[in-house]
Amino acid sequence: MTARYSLLARGLLAAGLLVAVSAADAQNKIKVGFMLPYTGTYSALGTAIENGFRLYVQEQGGKLGGREIEYVKVDDESEPSKAVDNINKLIKRDNVDVVVGTVHSGVVMAMAKVAKDTNTLLVIPNAGARAVTGPMCAPNIFRSSFSNWQPGYAMGKVAGDRGAKKVATITWKYAAGDESVQGFKDGLKTTGGEVIKELTLPFPNVEFQALLTEIAATKPDAVYAFFAGGGAVKFVKDYAAAGLNKTIPLYGPGFLTDGTLEAQGEAAQGLLTTLHYADGLDIPKDKAFRSDYNKTYKAEPDVYAVQGYDAAQMLGAGLAAVKGDLGKRDALVSAIEKARIDSPRGAFTLSKAHDPVQDIYLRKVVGTQNKFEGVAVKSLAEPSPGCKM
Ligand code: PHB
Repeated sequence: MTARYSLLARGLLAAGLLVAVSAADAQNKIKVGFMLPYTGTYSALGTAIENGFRLYVQEQGGKLGGREIEYVKVDDESEPSKAVDNINKLIKRDNVDVVVGTVHSGVVMAMAKVAKDTNTLLVIPNAGARAVTGPMCAPNIFRSSFSNWQPGYAMGKVAGDRGAKKVATITWKYAAGDESVQGFKDGLKTTGGEVIKELTLPFPNVEFQALLTEIAATKPDAVYAFFAGGGAVKFVKDYAAAGLNKTIPLYGPGFLTDGTLEAQGEAAQGLLTTLHYADGLDIPKDKAFRSDYNKTYKAEPDVYAVQGYDAAQMLGAGLAAVKGDLGKRDALVSAIEKARIDSPRGAFTLSKAHDPVQDIYLRKVVGTQNKFEGVAVKSLAEPSPGCKM
């Protein structure tokens, strides 16, 4: 009898404790770990992403799914060799609930492997590496940005339609550059054009001179370049300083001129690029976003800020569906999968592999704006070869 009573008591006690724990859990903050570049050629991109993410959370009163959000962060330096250690700091040392990162494709591939092995929720707010939504795709990995192939493919079509038959490409030699060029080739091919020369240099080098001399000697109909951040600023200026902008049209994915125009100035005027964001979109959500961003940060948002904002919207959609209960992972994942994200770029949904299916815009540099010129490719989906999910 006594033994039975104490068993019952222990059971009740345990149940009571469980209730107490889950109630406390619901009040606990959700810990978001930013793994982004805060130094190096991509540092401005990391900051814009964080700003965008925080802005959405701030608009929701600091909460997603009814729970307050707190942040920790790690500077990944866009350094693939440090990626595993860096993400483990967030997962094991800081016990984050979600990792938001990163910009660099080489870094994100290492992160995705750790996220997959530890089943950590990962929202990628930039890096376009195709592998993470291809062979490495997983229920816990989402991307709020693009695949490297998407803007490249659109630019290939645009360049071909504008008469480029023989094109030279130039980029940093790593996954993002390689995949961007592949997308460009695929798009160009649909118009009958071809790439006749592929030039590369190691990331994040900016010694472009010898390669520009080679471009001048090759005399292609056009050049396609993938660079971003500080490297894009220098490339566009060097291209103009070499006088090439007068004779050989320079095309690129929009990263070439996004968040960089103040620094590129005259050298960037008139450049045509393709991207899932543009200045001057006639989208009410974009107008509200830009005004809020401007008020909060006293700066103009760029594509990276939008991707950060949308990473928070995606997480918010998942958390709202489970009322902040991270234990309900399947329901959280399925809510993000089904969400229609009301993005400043225009609303988008996610592909089966968790990439945005989105319009790619043609933009033209006018002053400090990447002015919307039209839709280059409508509802473009990354094909995600190798994703079994
Ligand atoms: C990438 O490494 O995937 C990457 C980096 C910067 C960009 C775009 C893609 O602007």
